[in-house]
Amino acid sequence: MREILIIGIGAGNPEHMTLEGIAALNRADVLFIPDKGEEKAGLRALREAICARFIRKPDYRTVPVAIPRRAEAEGDYRGAVDDWHALIAARYRALFEAELEDGQTGALLVWGDPALYDSTLRLMERVAASGLALDWRVYPGISSVQVLAARHRIALNTIGAPVLITTGRRLAAGFPADQDSVVVMLDGAEAFAGIDPDGLDIFWGAYLGTADEILRAGPLSALAAEIAALRARARARHGWIMDTYLLRRRPA
Ligand SMILES: C[S@@+](CC[C@H](N)C(=O)[O-])C[C@H]1O[C@@H](n2cnc3c(N)ncnc32)[C@H](O)[C@@H]1O
Repeated sequence: MREILIIGIGAGNPEHMTLEGIAALNRADVLFIPDKGEEKAGLRALREAICARFIRKPDYRTVPVAIPRRAEAEGDYRGAVDDWHALIAARYRALFEAELEDGQTGALLVWGDPALYDSTLRLMERVAASGLALDWRVYPGISSVQVLAARHRIALNTIGAPVLITTGRRLAAGFPADQDSVVVMLDGAEAFAGIDPDGLDIFWGAYLGTADEILRAGPLSALAAEIAALRARARARHGWIMDTYLLRRRPA
């Protein structure tokens, strides 16, 4: 049986590693480092910095995992994601078999927390279902959503009310009528700029937890254009951007 430790590493600041996560890093025989290509090189660098800073054995072994790009969905989003996951799961299986002996332990460093908009846990289920004897454990990490709330010094929910965490793709259909607090992730298409801003405040953060962090908060109507311009400038400068925001309905 091979064992895989799925370690949440926080969303940009190495100091957000938990003690439990650091102990898990040090237990692994091999560290698998996902690589999503040039535009995400900054993210790979953070994973490498975490290994260098927290792993105490000098001869630890890292193995890059090339993550292929997802094909355009062409109407069938779930189908496209399913095909993409099948490809990545096959790649993981091949790497686990090649790089880990039976009885050895590997680690996967997952951005933020593995439970939030990350496919690693579903991928482990696929690898195990494909017939490889595999066990895995999960170590929670600090999510970009927690860093967003901390930086803006806000609670995500209003008193006794729910929070919806969703994607830019879904927000594009409009701010949900039955919610007052909506966290939006994965919004490359700037859905915040396309919805009716009336009565909404935005708490926005990019590169949260890093030295390049940018924050803005205020009425969406006043900030949408400024945030779009900031995104464009930051993307041009860094080659990539990750941002998250909370939209909150102002009390009537
Ligand atoms: C694939 S999801 C991964 C989320 C991650 N598991 C987490 O817990 O934060 C990627 C999205 O997370 C958000 N994100 C991750 N890191 C971020 C950061 N440092 N600053 C702002 N947003 C971030 C962005 O919305 C990005 O599109």
